Amino acid sequence: MTAPAPVDLRSDTVTRPTAAMRRAMAAAEVGDDVYGDDPTVLELERRIAAIAGFEAAVYVPSGTMGNQLAVRCHTGRGDEVLLDADSHIYVNEQGAVGALAGCLAHPIASERGAIAPAAIEAAVRDPSDDHVARVSLLCLENTHNRHGGSILPLETLTTIAAAARGRGLAVHLDGARLWNASVATGVAIRTWAAPVDSVMMCFSKGLGAPIGSVLAGRADFIRRARRVRKQWGGGMRQVGVLAAAALHALDHHVERLAEDHARAKRLAAGLGGEGVRVAEPETNIVMIELLAAPLDRGVLLAALERRGVRMGPSGPRRIRAITHLDVDDAGAERAIAAFRAALGEALAGGASPHPEHGPTTGRLLPSAGL
Ligand SMILES: Cc1ncc(COP(=O)(O)O)c(C=O)c1O
Repeated sequence: MTAPAPVDLRSDTVTRPTAAMRRAMAAAEVGDDVYGDDPTVLELERRIAAIAGFEAAVYVPSGTMGNQLAVRCHTGRGDEVLLDADSHIYVNEQGAVGALAGCLAHPIASERGAIAPAAIEAAVRDPSDDHVARVSLLCLENTHNRHGGSILPLETLTTIAAAARGRGLAVHLDGARLWNASVATGVAIRTWAAPVDSVMMCFSKGLGAPIGSVLAGRADFIRRARRVRKQWGGGMRQVGVLAAAALHALDHHVERLAEDHARAKRLAAGLGGEGVRVAEPETNIVMIELLAAPLDRGVLLAALERRGVRMGPSGPRRIRAITHLDVDDAGAERAIAAFRAALGEALAGGASPHPEHGPTTGRLLPSAGL
């Protein structure tokens, strides 16, 4: 008898395209997108612009490229960019704000992604002073990855964006998982996007496409982003085969995110135990803090792996489990049973850390940022 496939909760990026998605990809009409000839990409971009309530949108290979195009196109070299100290753009994009846009990243501590308007006020500099950088952009994130998929409430987002725009800043929203915020709250994507100047959204996370993200904004801004995308080597050709996966996901995989949210709540309720604290998830990310001194992140992850369950590190004393398209109710129950057994073993000072997960205090591994 072959062992069942592991329950992989490391990230919602691990999903594989469904048979129906693959059929949609195979049937896609394509053309050279750099020439503007790919009808499937054009349809996706038009559809996203309408969903987000913006004039235009550009399809990009990754969320990182979408975010960094936004930073680059909202700013000039030497400008300062305000962002949450725990944001993906600041923590997990390899310093690209400096490396690609030539800007100074100014991290600000937030309350679950909510940057206080007073902190924005304090960070904005006098534009007539030739000694200081021009502060030109604020970046927000919703849902917030490192805050456990938390939702930045609409009124809070609106207030923060208004404070920044009132001081002449553009506002970009990293909405890699804005779909989750929309489904969890019933608030439409265009309503979330209304207070900001641009939004990036991913198809390759909860929506289950193999690749792809989109940046939406004003037509002139997206025109600039399209030029820089080409400069950065992101001009793609018969990429309708991939855009078709995104269109399929929009038709079939958005509303079902509610199932991921329900399973995350079920997981959180079942994962609690001695030595750990599990936060109540708002969407599809469950954060498990390791409280007891003998608990080692690597040991616990290894004990889980041996039981056919994968979770990921998210900080030296924190583990993350993310629900997605490829995790059903049975998978969630398997994960809970495995976690209880692994926790018992790890508390008793069980086996050695899994080599992929590294020591408790070591550097964070790639999966931590996804
Ligand atoms: C909040 C957030 N923004 C951006 C990204 C980057 O997306 P990608 O991995 O497609 O570059 C991620 C990836 O997980 C993310 O969680």
